[in-house]
Amino acid sequence: MTAFDRFAERYPEYASTRELDRLRATEYGRLDAQRQVYLDYTGGSLHADSQVREHARLLGEHVYGNPHSANPSSAESTRRVERARAAVLAYFNAAGNYTAVFTPNASGALKLVGEAFPFAAGSRLLLSADNHNSVNGIREFARAKGAAIDYAPLTVPELRLDDPALDRLLAVADPAGANLFAFPAQSNFSGVRHPLALVEAGRRRGWRVLLDAAAFVPTNRLDLATVAPDFVAVSFYKMFGYPTGVGCLLIRNDALACLHRPWFAGGTVNFATVQGRHHVLSPREAGFEDGTLDYLGIPAVAIGLAHIGRIGIETIATRVRCLTEWLLAELLALAHGNGRPMVRLYGPATSTMRGGTLTMNFYDPDGRLLDYRRIEELAGEQRISLRTGCFCNPGAGEAAEGLTEDDMRAGFAQGAAISLPRFLEVMQHRGGKSAGAIRVSLGVASNFADALRFVQFAAGFRDQTALTIGTVTFDIESCRVIRDGS
Ligand SMILES: Cc1ncc(COP(=O)(O)O)c(C=O)c1O
Repeated sequence: MTAFDRFAERYPEYASTRELDRLRATEYGRLDAQRQVYLDYTGGSLHADSQVREHARLLGEHVYGNPHSANPSSAESTRRVERARAAVLAYFNAAGNYTAVFTPNASGALKLVGEAFPFAAGSRLLLSADNHNSVNGIREFARAKGAAIDYAPLTVPELRLDDPALDRLLAVADPAGANLFAFPAQSNFSGVRHPLALVEAGRRRGWRVLLDAAAFVPTNRLDLATVAPDFVAVSFYKMFGYPTGVGCLLIRNDALACLHRPWFAGGTVNFATVQGRHHVLSPREAGFEDGTLDYLGIPAVAIGLAHIGRIGIETIATRVRCLTEWLLAELLALAHGNGRPMVRLYGPATSTMRGGTLTMNFYDPDGRLLDYRRIEELAGEQRISLRTGCFCNPGAGEAAEGLTEDDMRAGFAQGAAISLPRFLEVMQHRGGKSAGAIRVSLGVASNFADALRFVQFAAGFRDQTALTIGTVTFDIESCRVIRDGS
């Protein structure tokens, strides 16, 4: 019996996703042709070859000009953009209730909310500690306008929201003020799915709710007729790989009026004068889409949505759940010769309310951390694409490793540019904590062979002692390696 036979026996529902194996060969064939193991779907999904072909055909069939004009080439672009907008609204079951604003990415969508939300003294911003930095950054808009800022803490080891603490924080809003509660539908750090019921819970208690759906929608259906946040942010390349420069902010129509754009630009005004120093903003999406849209790229969004629609998001979800459960069990069972576990997982150990994003660190037989930068290098040598660092989600990372404000201060006390080895050294003296981890994530083109290759790679560290790499200068806030001296 092969490993796959045992897997297939354990997960009979995997057979219902067989269509994805056919697509792996026909649409994502470059993976196997190049013997690549792609495990960074939370970073970005992969495109099907046919998406690009269809897009190229579309570009070749018509003449497209800059929108915002009545000439034929401009009108054709407008038609295609509006068709894509309608496809987005239909995909999320949001037509009639939401306005879809095209942005460069999810971060662009989140920034639109941050800069236009009417924060003021007396209003509040509530963020889950588990948030991408592009949501954390909204606190700077809130701070500048005098709003109170709170973080809802996470429980360990599952890294879920601490319900009683969140409940207390939701209760303090004055419903007469402008209050914003922002959380991710799925964590890009731990894969935790935060309850979508929090949307209604927040709204009932006087909050506008911003749902960061960037890491959720690539493997889950989001039905905005059932769950209706005020604002939703997504990046389309995370859903279907191509195009890379387009995201979307979905705004509940009854929340549109609460946003006040801090400026105007080409494309966002019905009328503007120089002498009168006055402008009239365009209504709905046009008031938010600054300058020229990516009018050649946006039509490819409709193609990508149709591709996912043909596969069925539930099929992708089933496959990702089976592979995730299997990976969790296999990785957590890995042990050194002396019986000590090889892998420490951050987040839920089962597939209940979690997606296919698995974050972990590897340890040696004496319990010493294996440097994740070295792990990434070694994975790269085997053509395995995984991601390491803190994934721009410092709050989840801090909770996962039990890092405290004091730890951070101790780290920053080392100097302006903290080096990762130095920070890790400091942490070793403060209870052996890590800062950063290894992340693997699954998606539309994942198969059992990918998961198996990663488990075999991880098993290769059995009984190996802690590895060393050259000096890596690491900026904790931006998650960027500043200088790699190795
Ligand atoms: C949960 C989440 N939110 C926001 C973002 C930001 O997306 P983008 O970089 O496309 O703006 C990401 C990207 O990884 C993410 O995972």
